[in-house]
Amino acid sequence: MSIHIAARPGEIAETVLLPGDPLRARFIADTFLENPKQYSDVRNMSGFTGTYKGKAVSVQGTGMGIPSISIYVNELFRDYGVKRAIRVGTAGSIQEDLKIRDLVIALSASTDSAANNLRFGGRNYAPAAAFSLVRKAWDSAAAKGWKAIAGQVVSSDMFYTDDPGEWKLWAKYGCLCLEMETAELYTLAAKYRREALSLLTISDSLITHELTTAEERQTAFTRMMEIALETAVS
Ligand code: HPA
Repeated sequence: MSIHIAARPGEIAETVLLPGDPLRARFIADTFLENPKQYSDVRNMSGFTGTYKGKAVSVQGTGMGIPSISIYVNELFRDYGVKRAIRVGTAGSIQEDLKIRDLVIALSASTDSAANNLRFGGRNYAPAAAFSLVRKAWDSAAAKGWKAIAGQVVSSDMFYTDDPGEWKLWAKYGCLCLEMETAELYTLAAKYRREALSLLTISDSLITHELTTAEERQTAFTRMMEIALETAVS
């Protein structure tokens, strides 16, 4: 057991999917995995292990934001020997041509978080995805004939900012969308010499303020999950 995850050694697979929402972890386990078993419910941050196409896969909720994902991913890499971590999350678009329900493969994550300032003493580290996983996700989307957009994202510490136009500077420099976890996931994967990838479904737009129906969200989410699972087991 680690402090925040109550699994016994061997109960967590080498590949773990990481949704922010613990209820989504349960949904993913029940919907996409065979024979899922819950290994932890500490703080209701559920974790499950099952199989997909015969291979063991776990799914662990991370909570929202860098401090929360940092706790779970540190423990997964350090205490449970996890080798591959694939975030499956949502993000807000900051580019006009990136639409609701689009799928983003996060190549790198800029951030306004203080975490890497503390870690690197003011130097600017560039958190990046594992190329092996980027390629698998890209190939799996292409094989299904689904569009994916690969590019830079922003991991922000503030969902509610005082300046509502703050995202425009990130957009000017080519970032695609805002979310709140990937910079820390990629940094920890580099530290522990593991592989990480973030797949993000666009859930809202800071430009158009478009909304999507629950059904449309579900379809986009299912596509992302299929690509995440193919990437996990290939
Ligand atoms: N900002 C930060 N994180 C998000 C957003 C957003 O607009 N949408 C989904 N996750």
